[in-house]
Amino acid sequence: MDQVLSIINVNKKFDGTVALDNFSLEILRDSITGIIGPNGAGKTTLFNAITGFLSLDSGKIIYNSKNLSRMPSCKIARAGIARTFQQLRLITRMTVQDNILLSFQNQAGEQLKNTFLFPGRVKNQEEKTKGIYGTLLSL
Ligand SMILES: Nc1ncnc2c1ncn2[C@@H]1O[C@H](COP(=O)(O)OP(=O)(O)OP(=O)(O)O)[C@@H](O)[C@H]1O
Ligand SMILES: [Mg+2]
Repeated sequence: MDQVLSIINVNKKFDGTVALDNFSLEILRDSITGIIGPNGAGKTTLFNAITGFLSLDSGKIIYNSKNLSRMPSCKIARAGIARTFQQLRLITRMTVQDNILLSFQNQAGEQLKNTFLFPGRVKNQEEKTKGIYGTLLSL
């Protein structure tokens, strides 16, 4: 198995607080990796750094051979890194399924005109994403 995500000697300080202290981690393709640690250990800081929500003081994050360290979060998401947040901010008037389906990118239905001009295409894509949602539920 090869590495898909390499976190190499990353450092992040908030004023006097050292949140990430020369932290390194290799995540292998097709693996499931958990990060555990006590409150304030730096888990959220690490996730924020991986997903471009904050910049590192030093160190590198490489994903599929691309250096994410200075990439904006929208490009990191398009490169294939998805995340959730500690405060989820779900849309409470929508179903669980619809909240999850919102995260699929580049859907034809994102543009109002497509729902009028190409309703078949919009519906097909929605059926596909619902299929993926079903597969996720059965994992
Ligand atoms: N924006 C910030 N400004 C100042 N200090 C911060 C900031 N974000 C995190 N910290 C500090 O950095 C350290 C790591 O915090 P972080 O939120 O990454 O920990 P965590 O492992 O996610 O904790 P928890 O289990 O409580 O979610 C803590 O001491 C925290 O107070
Ligand atoms: Mg946290």
